[in-house]
Order: sequence, then structure tokens, then C-alpha cells
Amino acid sequence: MADPFDGFDRVPLVGGVTPLQAAPRLSAELGAEVYLKRDDQSGLGLGGNKLRKLEFILGDAVASGCDTLVTFGAIQSNHARQSAAACARLGLDCHLVLTESVPRHDDLYNAGGNVLLDELFGATLWHAGSTEQGLQDAIGRLEQQLDRNGARARWTPAGGSEALGALGYVVSAHELSTQCEQLRIEPEAVFVASSTGGTQAGLICGSVPAPGAGAPGSGTRIEGMAVYQSVPATIDAVIRLRDEVGDLLGRDCSTMPSVLVDGSQFGEGYGIPTEASREAMSLFARTEGVVLDPVYTAKAAAGLIERCRSGEVGTRGPVVFVHTGGVPGLFAYGSDALPGERPGAPSPTAG
Ligand SMILES: Cc1ncc(COP(=O)(O)O)c(C=O)c1O
Repeated sequence: MADPFDGFDRVPLVGGVTPLQAAPRLSAELGAEVYLKRDDQSGLGLGGNKLRKLEFILGDAVASGCDTLVTFGAIQSNHARQSAAACARLGLDCHLVLTESVPRHDDLYNAGGNVLLDELFGATLWHAGSTEQGLQDAIGRLEQQLDRNGARARWTPAGGSEALGALGYVVSAHELSTQCEQLRIEPEAVFVASSTGGTQAGLICGSVPAPGAGAPGSGTRIEGMAVYQSVPATIDAVIRLRDEVGDLLGRDCSTMPSVLVDGSQFGEGYGIPTEASREAMSLFARTEGVVLDPVYTAKAAAGLIERCRSGEVGTRGPVVFVHTGGVPGLFAYGSDALPGERPGAPSPTAG
């Protein structure tokens, strides 16, 4: 069968197939068989889901003769950090327009975690504040600089959530399906954090049977946990990208069951930890030695935990958690990402 990605320009950033791992101690805690798809272990710049998107976006940029990438995100954007790392690898200039989208204003948040790495990878940071006017001003200043330098820039939206980017998650879904076949498991559900929607959209399209092929994972529900915007807005974003990816691949991706997005773990807003996300972070760490991030994966994991504990999922087959990365963001939150009670933690005065 022809490779469905043959016609697309692509640069290698992920570094091969990411592991699908059993999580026996977590499974025992939850009373459901849980597997972890370790996209946090994708190769470059401390890894994460955006590298899969950037393989196609930057493949397109390089093929079009661009020398610069411009993209957007919150101050602690993982997409921005992975874009910076990928540009470093490819020798492209990288401009990151960063917005104040989370109510945190301390030095750790503004300069630590992903920001520290953005700078280490040599990206130029444009601070856009928290208003639409601030964003437009930053874009205006950036455009002037690009013009002055005669840059050939490829722009991509926040999260790399354009159809080409979401193709990266079609690749991930195919990879996951092959791994499930090898392990002889048929997951009941796949849980993933959904923000700008491209990751979930790609996973959905990758689970639709390709013309003339079998049906990789077609019985599996793809459950998005909303972490950035409301459930209806997340669903709209996923549907738009799903249909655009379907057009790119010549595949009707709307044949999957309705787009599933759960808003129960959203809490007070984007980037604001909840008690459940803190507990999820602690449970994954203590049972499996797996680190989650406070903004995306901890909330998605909190959803998985709640649904397994209530018996709503995990009774008809294993559950897969897509670990989409984001761990550098943890270091911008410090102990605020962790549950209040931490037995064994040194007291503030201890040596
Ligand atoms: C760690 C992590 N997980 C999940 C997501 C969600 O991906 P998407 O924006 O494609 O919905 C992001 C997006 O920034 C992310 O950084």
C-alpha cells in the first residue's frame, strides 16, 4: 500500500517511533489496564507533541525556500519551545510571539521552564502582553524587522494547528495502531489533552480506515480533554482541522463517531492547576515514575483517572493515554503544580 504521507514535504524531528508502554502500577490503582504512548519522548529539545506537527510544517517551509519561522503561544508554550529547537536543528531563524494567557506573573513563570529553553535555542521572543492590541503591535514590529532583514518567513498559528501540522498526528495514530496490533490489544479509548485541536483531529483522521486498508483502531474512541478553550470551541476546532486533514489525505474523516471532548477537568481556566490535576501529577509520578505537565497532560490524566475510577472506561478494553509532553512547563510552576500534602518533602528550613 502507498505511504499516505508520500506527497508531503517532511523533515525528521521526532527520531523514530515513540514507545507504547504498559503502566502496571497505575493500572492496579485505577482498576483498568492503562498504556502510555510516550510522545513526550520524541527526540528534539526535550520532546513533545509539536515535533510531529513541525515535521510537516517545517518540511513545507524548507521546501518553499523559507529561512524563518514565526509562531505564537502563551509565555510557557511548549509549541514555541519545540519550534525553537526544531529551527535550531534546521538552521532557521525562529520568532516567537508570546501572549500573557495565564494569570501568573512571577519570575519563574516569565523566565524559567520553556522560556529559558526558547532563549537557549536562540529564538527571538516578542512579548505581546494580554490584549489584542498588544498582539497586533508585536506582530507589526516583528513584520517590520522581517522586512528590513529580507526574511522569507513561514507563519504557523499557535500550537502549529493547521492541517499540515495535524498530519503529524495521523502518523502518530498509525504508529499507535501498529503497536496495539503487536501487543495484541484493542484499546477501548485513547485520552489526549485538546487545546488548539490539531492533535485530536490528527488522531481521529488516523483512526479512519485508509481506502483499501484495514481499520487501524477504528473501534477506539478518541477522548479529548479540553484544557484551553470551552468544549464547543474545542469541538469546532477539532472538526475544522479534521475535515481539512481529510481533504489533504483524500479521506473522509467525518465517518468516525462524533468528536468527543470533555470539559470536566478545565477548572478555573487555561494554565491554572486543579486539585485533580495535582493528584494526577502525583499518581503518575509515584506509580510509574512518569512526569506530567501542569497545563495539559495533568488535566488530561485527571480525566482518565476519574473515568477509570468510575468504571466508565476500561471495562471493555485497555485505555491509552497519549503523553504529549510539556514537562519543561512544570519548572515554571514549582510546587504549585503538586498536591498540598507531600509526605517526605523537606521542610523549608531543612538543610
Ligand atoms: C503538552 C501539550 N499537550 C497537548 C497539547 C494540545 O495540543 P493541541 O494544541 O494540538 O490540541 C499541547 C499544545 O500546546 C501541549 O503543549
